[in-house]
Amino acid sequence: MDKLASELRERRTLDDEGLRTLLESEDASLVESLHRNAREVAVERFGKQVWLRALIEWSNVCRLDCLYCGIRKSNREVPRYTLSREEILSACASAWKEGIRTFVLQGGENPSGALFLADVVADIRASWPEAAITLSLGELPFTTYALLRRRGGDRYLLRHETASAAHYARLHPSDMRLDSRMECLQELRRLGFQTGMGMMVGSPWQTSQDLLADLRLMERFRPEMAGIGPFIPQHSTPLGSFPAGSADVTLRLYSILRLMLPAIFLPATTALSTLLPGGRVQGILAGANVIMLNFTPRAYRPAYSLYEGKPETDGAEALRELRKELSEAGYKTTS
Ligand code: 5AD
Repeated sequence: MDKLASELRERRTLDDEGLRTLLESEDASLVESLHRNAREVAVERFGKQVWLRALIEWSNVCRLDCLYCGIRKSNREVPRYTLSREEILSACASAWKEGIRTFVLQGGENPSGALFLADVVADIRASWPEAAITLSLGELPFTTYALLRRRGGDRYLLRHETASAAHYARLHPSDMRLDSRMECLQELRRLGFQTGMGMMVGSPWQTSQDLLADLRLMERFRPEMAGIGPFIPQHSTPLGSFPAGSADVTLRLYSILRLMLPAIFLPATTALSTLLPGGRVQGILAGANVIMLNFTPRAYRPAYSLYEGKPETDGAEALRELRKELSEAGYKTTS
């Protein structure tokens, strides 16, 4: 049985039955061998290093109504905000000062807000020519994607959320389509963005067949990055009383992806560490190689609660704690 992980490591693929076993087996030695192989592949390629990114949640204004998300349009309990240009630049400056060289600007889906942000991206590009600018702004007109690219965006994260069209339809209102997400991802890549996709683990009605479809989709698309975290219920959403997803399955998916796509940039997500204390380091030991620290100004944090229990620690403060945890595990940070 323990051969499965080494087979995946060698061939970078496995049949459905093999992948399903890696996702579901209760054999602890198989799971340990999966994580160990993934960790070794990550260390071979990147050394014992973890890439840090500064997450700036620049706006929670969203036109969408995804059933799982705390900042969905119909949630009237959240005060809506958009950071000013100065607030965004100052968040970038604090991150830069801490040695972080990638800024991740994430926000709700808001086409006119994205046009404002494009100008801010140009300012960030002018102030920090060597920084990498990652955008996570949902599905936008292709002309806006092109504008964001011209203004200096390098990378774009757009989670596909689930590769099964039927499952996608249960998690989203009827005006949202998996196909149009995939078209956006193709276009982003065509424009020269490094692209990231990903999904929630254990979202309502998700089956292991769906997770398999997620893996196959990523195996085909070969994204440069993948964001994968457990579903965490948010009380003011329609899916607020469903159980949270599994941290264990999330860790297994990190390992499987590391073995399938050895060069992928794979964050140990905030959602994982919300569910599992020490989850960031455990994620790294399972093959993840990126950690995002939150540099959103503190006053706005509570209004960006996609899910419950999100830690509210400040980026600079969290960074000291994280460096300590990682060095105890033998890892250094880089950016
Ligand atoms: N639990 C976990 N992740 C969530 N996201 C949104 N709502 C939740 C939730 N309740 C994730 C989605 C989205 C990303 C920004 O946050 O996958 O793409």
